[in-house]
Amino acid sequence: MSTVAGHPADFIHRFVPGNRADATPLLLLHGTGGDETDLLPLGQMIAPGATLLSPRGRVLENGMPRFFRRLAEGVFDHEDVVRRAHELADFVSGAQARHGLAPPIAVGFSNGANIAAAMMMLRPDVLAGAVLIRAMVPLPDPPQADLSGRPVLILSGAMDPIVPEADATRLAGQLTAAGATVTHEVLPAGHGLTQADVTLARRWLADHG
Ligand code: MLT
Repeated sequence: MSTVAGHPADFIHRFVPGNRADATPLLLLHGTGGDETDLLPLGQMIAPGATLLSPRGRVLENGMPRFFRRLAEGVFDHEDVVRRAHELADFVSGAQARHGLAPPIAVGFSNGANIAAAMMMLRPDVLAGAVLIRAMVPLPDPPQADLSGRPVLILSGAMDPIVPEADATRLAGQLTAAGATVTHEVLPAGHGLTQADVTLARRWLADHG
Protein backbone atom coordinates (compact mmCIF):
# COMPACT_ATOMS: atom_id res chain seq x y z
CA MET A 1 0.00 0.00 0.00
CA SER A 2 1.39 3.44 -0.76
CA THR A 3 0.46 6.88 0.52
CA VAL A 4 1.37 9.85 -1.65
CA ALA A 5 1.22 13.56 -0.88
CA GLY A 6 2.20 14.78 -4.31
CA HIS A 7 2.66 18.01 -6.22
CA PRO A 8 -0.30 20.35 -6.74
CA ALA A 9 -1.69 18.39 -9.69
CA ASP A 10 -1.77 15.26 -7.55
CA PHE A 11 -4.08 14.10 -4.80
CA ILE A 12 -3.11 12.63 -1.45
CA HIS A 13 -4.20 9.06 -1.98
CA ARG A 14 -3.84 5.39 -1.18
CA PHE A 15 -3.02 2.87 -3.85
CA VAL A 16 -3.58 -0.77 -2.94
CA PRO A 17 -2.46 -3.18 -5.67
CA GLY A 18 -4.84 -6.09 -6.15
CA ASN A 19 -4.08 -9.75 -6.65
CA ARG A 20 -6.78 -10.57 -9.20
CA ALA A 21 -5.79 -9.56 -12.71
CA ASP A 22 -9.36 -10.04 -13.96
CA ALA A 23 -10.94 -7.61 -11.43
CA THR A 24 -11.66 -4.06 -12.60
CA PRO A 25 -9.83 -1.56 -10.35
CA LEU A 26 -11.97 0.56 -8.05
CA LEU A 27 -11.70 4.32 -7.60
CA LEU A 28 -12.94 4.97 -4.05
CA LEU A 29 -14.39 8.42 -3.35
CA HIS A 30 -15.26 9.31 0.24
CA GLY A 31 -18.02 11.54 1.61
CA THR A 32 -17.72 14.96 3.25
CA GLY A 33 -15.25 14.84 6.15
CA GLY A 34 -13.76 11.55 5.04
CA ASP A 35 -10.33 10.81 3.69
CA GLU A 36 -8.37 8.40 1.53
CA THR A 37 -8.55 5.61 4.12
CA ASP A 38 -12.33 5.67 4.68
CA LEU A 39 -13.56 3.41 1.90
CA LEU A 40 -10.65 0.97 1.70
CA PRO A 41 -12.46 -1.62 3.88
CA LEU A 42 -15.60 -1.20 1.74
CA GLY A 43 -13.56 -1.68 -1.44
CA GLN A 44 -12.02 -4.86 -0.05
CA MET A 45 -15.46 -6.18 0.95
CA ILE A 46 -17.24 -5.50 -2.32
CA ALA A 47 -14.41 -6.44 -4.71
CA PRO A 48 -11.96 -8.76 -2.95
CA GLY A 49 -8.57 -8.76 -4.68
CA ALA A 50 -9.28 -5.69 -6.86
CA THR A 51 -6.75 -2.86 -7.10
CA LEU A 52 -7.94 0.17 -5.11
CA LEU A 53 -7.16 3.82 -5.79
CA SER A 54 -8.49 6.15 -3.12
CA PRO A 55 -7.83 9.92 -3.29
CA ARG A 56 -8.64 12.52 -0.66
CA GLY A 57 -10.84 15.41 -1.78
CA ARG A 58 -8.89 18.68 -2.04
CA VAL A 59 -11.62 21.10 -1.02
CA LEU A 60 -11.89 21.88 2.69
CA GLU A 61 -15.21 22.85 4.25
CA ASN A 62 -14.54 23.87 7.86
CA GLY A 63 -11.57 21.50 7.78
CA MET A 64 -13.57 18.63 6.22
CA PRO A 65 -12.27 17.27 2.92
CA ARG A 66 -14.68 17.24 -0.03
CA PHE A 67 -14.36 16.82 -3.78
CA PHE A 68 -15.98 20.16 -4.71
CA ARG A 69 -17.30 23.32 -3.12
CA ARG A 70 -20.93 23.76 -2.08
CA LEU A 71 -22.73 26.95 -1.15
CA ALA A 72 -25.10 25.20 1.29
CA GLU A 73 -26.26 21.63 1.87
CA GLY A 74 -27.46 20.35 -1.50
CA VAL A 75 -26.55 23.64 -3.26
CA PHE A 76 -23.44 23.12 -5.33
CA ASP A 77 -20.94 25.53 -6.85
CA HIS A 78 -21.32 24.15 -10.38
CA GLU A 79 -18.27 25.91 -11.77
CA ASP A 80 -16.21 24.25 -9.05
CA VAL A 81 -17.86 20.86 -9.73
CA VAL A 82 -16.69 21.07 -13.36
CA ARG A 83 -13.17 22.20 -12.48
CA ARG A 84 -12.71 19.57 -9.74
CA ALA A 85 -14.18 16.76 -11.85
CA HIS A 86 -11.57 17.50 -14.54
CA GLU A 87 -8.77 17.65 -11.94
CA LEU A 88 -9.82 14.30 -10.53
CA ALA A 89 -10.18 12.79 -14.01
CA ASP A 90 -6.62 13.96 -14.83
CA PHE A 91 -5.36 12.39 -11.61
CA VAL A 92 -7.11 9.09 -12.41
CA SER A 93 -5.73 9.05 -15.98
CA GLY A 94 -2.23 9.75 -14.62
CA ALA A 95 -2.53 6.96 -12.04
CA GLN A 96 -3.79 4.58 -14.73
CA ALA A 97 -0.77 5.31 -16.89
CA ARG A 98 1.65 5.11 -13.95
CA HIS A 99 0.35 1.79 -12.69
CA GLY A 100 -0.76 0.30 -16.02
CA LEU A 101 -4.39 0.09 -14.90
CA ALA A 102 -7.59 -0.43 -16.83
CA PRO A 103 -10.20 2.32 -16.42
CA PRO A 104 -11.63 1.92 -12.91
CA ILE A 105 -15.17 1.64 -11.67
CA ALA A 106 -15.83 4.52 -9.26
CA VAL A 107 -17.39 3.68 -5.91
CA GLY A 108 -18.51 6.94 -4.36
CA PHE A 109 -20.37 7.74 -1.20
CA SER A 110 -22.37 10.98 -0.91
CA ASN A 111 -20.07 13.82 -2.01
CA GLY A 112 -17.79 11.17 -3.57
CA ALA A 113 -20.74 9.75 -5.50
CA ASN A 114 -21.61 13.22 -6.76
CA ILE A 115 -18.13 13.91 -8.13
CA ALA A 116 -18.12 10.42 -9.69
CA ALA A 117 -21.40 11.22 -11.46
CA ALA A 118 -19.97 14.54 -12.66
CA MET A 119 -16.83 12.80 -13.95
CA MET A 120 -18.92 10.28 -15.87
CA MET A 121 -20.76 13.07 -17.65
CA LEU A 122 -17.75 15.36 -18.22
CA ARG A 123 -15.02 12.78 -18.91
CA PRO A 124 -16.88 9.67 -20.06
CA ASP A 125 -13.71 7.79 -21.07
CA VAL A 126 -12.03 7.86 -17.67
CA LEU A 127 -14.39 5.53 -15.76
CA ALA A 128 -15.57 2.04 -16.72
CA GLY A 129 -18.69 2.48 -14.59
CA ALA A 130 -19.81 3.63 -11.17
CA VAL A 131 -21.47 2.62 -7.93
CA LEU A 132 -23.10 5.80 -6.63
CA ILE A 133 -24.21 5.57 -3.00
CA ARG A 134 -26.59 8.37 -1.85
CA ALA A 135 -25.86 10.42 -4.98
CA MET A 136 -27.70 13.48 -6.22
CA VAL A 137 -27.57 15.56 -9.43
CA PRO A 138 -24.17 17.30 -9.47
CA LEU A 139 -24.80 19.34 -12.64
CA PRO A 140 -28.29 20.52 -13.60
CA ASP A 141 -27.48 20.71 -17.28
CA PRO A 142 -24.60 18.35 -18.10
CA PRO A 143 -23.00 18.24 -21.55
CA GLN A 144 -24.06 15.42 -23.89
CA ALA A 145 -21.76 12.52 -23.00
CA ASP A 146 -21.64 9.12 -24.65
CA LEU A 147 -21.84 6.59 -21.83
CA SER A 148 -23.01 3.67 -23.99
CA GLY A 149 -22.07 0.39 -22.44
CA ARG A 150 -21.13 1.94 -19.08
CA PRO A 151 -22.90 0.29 -16.15
CA VAL A 152 -24.00 2.40 -13.18
CA LEU A 153 -25.54 1.29 -9.89
CA ILE A 154 -27.30 4.01 -7.88
CA LEU A 155 -28.13 3.12 -4.28
CA SER A 156 -30.51 5.60 -2.64
CA GLY A 157 -32.08 5.73 0.82
CA ALA A 158 -35.87 6.05 1.01
CA MET A 159 -35.48 8.02 4.27
CA ASP A 160 -32.41 10.02 3.22
CA PRO A 161 -32.81 13.52 4.74
CA ILE A 162 -30.11 14.96 2.44
CA VAL A 163 -30.96 13.46 -0.97
CA PRO A 164 -34.64 13.58 -2.05
CA GLU A 165 -35.54 10.40 -3.94
CA ALA A 166 -36.67 12.49 -6.93
CA ASP A 167 -33.17 13.96 -7.19
CA ALA A 168 -31.53 10.53 -7.41
CA THR A 169 -34.17 9.54 -9.97
CA ARG A 170 -33.30 12.63 -12.01
CA LEU A 171 -29.62 11.63 -11.91
CA ALA A 172 -30.55 8.12 -13.08
CA GLY A 173 -32.44 9.76 -15.97
CA GLN A 174 -29.46 11.95 -16.95
CA LEU A 175 -27.13 8.93 -17.03
CA THR A 176 -29.63 6.77 -18.91
CA ALA A 177 -30.12 9.55 -21.48
CA ALA A 178 -26.35 9.51 -22.04
CA GLY A 179 -26.52 5.79 -22.82
CA ALA A 180 -25.40 4.26 -19.49
CA THR A 181 -27.02 1.07 -18.26
CA VAL A 182 -28.42 2.24 -14.94
CA THR A 183 -29.72 0.14 -12.06
CA HIS A 184 -31.36 2.32 -9.40
CA GLU A 185 -32.21 0.67 -6.08
CA VAL A 186 -34.01 2.53 -3.29
CA LEU A 187 -33.21 0.95 0.08
CA PRO A 188 -35.08 1.31 3.37
CA ALA A 189 -32.24 3.47 4.68
CA GLY A 190 -31.19 7.01 5.49
CA HIS A 191 -28.06 8.79 4.24
CA GLY A 192 -25.63 6.41 5.97
CA LEU A 193 -24.10 3.32 4.47
CA THR A 194 -25.90 0.06 5.37
CA GLN A 195 -25.21 -3.65 5.07
CA ALA A 196 -27.70 -3.75 2.18
CA ASP A 197 -25.49 -1.28 0.25
CA VAL A 198 -22.51 -3.57 0.73
CA THR A 199 -24.43 -6.66 -0.35
CA LEU A 200 -25.94 -5.02 -3.45
CA ALA A 201 -22.66 -3.38 -4.49
CA ARG A 202 -20.78 -6.67 -4.11
CA ARG A 203 -23.40 -8.54 -6.14
CA TRP A 204 -23.44 -5.88 -8.86
CA LEU A 205 -19.64 -5.75 -9.06
CA ALA A 206 -19.47 -9.53 -9.38
CA ASP A 207 -21.52 -9.10 -12.59
CA HIS A 208 -19.95 -5.86 -13.89
CA GLY A 209 -16.43 -5.65 -12.38
C1 MLT B 1 -22.67 16.78 -1.17
O1 MLT B 1 -22.02 16.57 -2.19
O2 MLT B 1 -22.69 17.87 -0.60
C2 MLT B 1 -23.42 15.62 -0.60
O3 MLT B 1 -24.37 15.12 -1.39
C3 MLT B 1 -23.87 15.80 0.76
C4 MLT B 1 -22.69 15.67 1.63
O4 MLT B 1 -21.61 15.43 1.17
O5 MLT B 1 -22.87 15.81 2.86
